[in-house]
Amino acid sequence: MTKFSNLTGTDYSEGAIDLARSLAERDGFSNINFLVDDVLETKLEGQFQLVVDKGTLDAIGLHPDGPIKRIMYWESVSKLVAPGGVLVITSCNSTKDELVQEVENFNQRRVNTFAEPESSDETQPEELLPTFQYLSHVRTYPTFTFGGSVGSRVATVAFLRN
Ligand SMILES: C[S@@+](CC[C@H](N)C(=O)[O-])C[C@H]1O[C@@H](n2cnc3c(N)ncnc32)[C@H](O)[C@@H]1O
Repeated sequence: MTKFSNLTGTDYSEGAIDLARSLAERDGFSNINFLVDDVLETKLEGQFQLVVDKGTLDAIGLHPDGPIKRIMYWESVSKLVAPGGVLVITSCNSTKDELVQEVENFNQRRVNTFAEPESSDETQPEELLPTFQYLSHVRTYPTFTFGGSVGSRVATVAFLRN
């Protein structure tokens, strides 16, 4: 079985990081680095094969400047995922289809950036800039029906980086 290495957990709340550290210690996960870090202005420099967000995009979206902050989120998080890596987002506020649409909007902004090179400060060749495609989603969450539509309270969606 392949084991994960170089595990890092972040949150911008010191209290959340303290709690995570103590739970990891209690449960014997001594190999996780924890860091107080604002994902919108991350201090992380490396890239990861797997980036997992559970509830952070949700929290960011609730800010009064949510729409702008969500764009900042994608710019920042996309740089943390290594080429060929996977981003997994769990949300209680967005549906799977909304998350997929948000990724498509991000990819489209990439295309637009290269259509207007003068307005771009990107120095990387286009094919190296991160874009994402839908990979899979969790299908086993309990569902409910409302107004003839079937949905679930939680969505977990995996996206593959180019
Ligand atoms: C719904 S909670 C989820 C906490 C944890 N991931 C979990 O699943 O139990 C949302 C978390 O996002 C964190 N958060 C909100 N905005 C953030 C930001 N810009 N950078 C880092 N963390 C942020 C909050 O501090 C909060 O702990």
